[in-house]
Amino acid sequence: MLDNQMKATLQIRDKTVELPMHSPTLGPDVIDIRKLYAEGDVFTYDPGFTSTASCESTITYIDGDEGVLLYRGFSIDELAEKSHFLEVCYLLLYGDLPTAEQLEDFETRVTRHTMLHEQMQNFFRGFRRDAHPMAIMVGIVGAMSAFYPDSTDIADPWQREVAAIRMIAKMPTIAAWAYKYSVGQPFVYPRNDLDYSSNFLRMCFAVPAEDYEVNPILSRAMDRIMTLHADHEQNASTSTVRLAGSSGANPFACISAGIACLWGPAHGGANQACLEMLREIGTVDRIPEYIKRAKDKDDPFRLMGFGHRVYKNFDPRAKVMAQSADEVLGLLGIENNETLQVAKELERIALEDEYFVSKKLYPNVDFYSGIILEAMGFPTSMFTPIFALSRTVGWISQWKEMIADPSQKIGRPRQLYVGPARRDYVEVENR
Ligand code: SDX
Repeated sequence: MLDNQMKATLQIRDKTVELPMHSPTLGPDVIDIRKLYAEGDVFTYDPGFTSTASCESTITYIDGDEGVLLYRGFSIDELAEKSHFLEVCYLLLYGDLPTAEQLEDFETRVTRHTMLHEQMQNFFRGFRRDAHPMAIMVGIVGAMSAFYPDSTDIADPWQREVAAIRMIAKMPTIAAWAYKYSVGQPFVYPRNDLDYSSNFLRMCFAVPAEDYEVNPILSRAMDRIMTLHADHEQNASTSTVRLAGSSGANPFACISAGIACLWGPAHGGANQACLEMLREIGTVDRIPEYIKRAKDKDDPFRLMGFGHRVYKNFDPRAKVMAQSADEVLGLLGIENNETLQVAKELERIALEDEYFVSKKLYPNVDFYSGIILEAMGFPTSMFTPIFALSRTVGWISQWKEMIADPSQKIGRPRQLYVGPARRDYVEVENR
């Protein structure tokens, strides 16, 4: 519950406006400005929402200065080491770690929803083979509301629950089939005897001519990647899902909107852009040229996989990912991978450079993930779809929290209008 004891006083011209303040469990206090326009006749102005809390949430907390990420209070480092993705899904969805019985029931429910309506295959076949898998995922997920209308009534808690399970269960199938379609291979159906990440890897890499023996090193690494990407407070794509959901749109439409937003290179598309940048740099001796470009205000080039709106210290996910990259490439016998060497040297040089140090720019979750995914055999075009399938549980958990929030309203920001004042129409002959 929000406390109202503290107050903030604003002096606006001749008016003094008192606004309630609230204290969080963790993080800065907030000024509740809901009554500001009514009492002060002014808006606040915060493009990019750098100082604005859009909602009250109990799901994820980031301490950007300390480089800490908590899912329902549990640190990402501990979860990445001791937990596994479906247990993390349960935690994010329901608020606590499951008992053994609850976990078994949850895993069974997810396992039994991994298949896609057979007719949806026609959607895949409507795309060009060279379509980006994210374009396919936006389309397929949006279309799910037409194939699963019995879990679109957002007023029905049971339908919300079914939609959440369906989304988590079917995203690996959708992502895998988008990949298969892009390489001209037949779709591989999920199997109920495989765990979540093994199922995904097999759907991506098995072929009718030869089954795919899941390498436990890779399935554990994939599972860890999914855990690291599962949720992250009110990032751009999660805010997109919440905003779409605030109008009452069905859950599949909301997740499709989130996928579209994640695709951007400033957000989830950075993992693909980062690996392409590392490949373009190519060798360690070319790093200084790119560092110079990243610092040049007149050059739009930025170091992809570097910097973050919230983290002004190491992204804890990047640390785990870097360890995982060493482990996976070492176990695969490709530890002298040139791309990994360039990434490590680039990180070392950047973190000693005054520009990056002064702006507190550190590697983020996207800096190392692509190196692992490439080593697993994925093309760069599949990096963001894998981010999307991992983040689906975060999107749907945040969406469920918003729908269940009694104070929830449709999101409708105001603006600072700097266009022309009212003027009369001018006939074309007089212009
Ligand atoms: C994700 O929000 C989330 O939680 C997102 C995410 C999640 O899990 O959902 O963590 C996932 O999106 C991670 C970020 C992936 N994006 C990239 O790696 C792309 C490269 N990074 C940048 O585009 C940038 O750092 C952002 C978009 C991530 C953050 O941008 P901000 O917070 O708006 O910061 P900014 O652009 O105002 O940068 C501050 C300064 C600027 O210089 P000045 O104008 O102050 O002189 O730092 C500079 C920027 O030019 N800067 C960089 C840089 N990132 C910021 N300069 C060079 N290279 C970079 N990567």
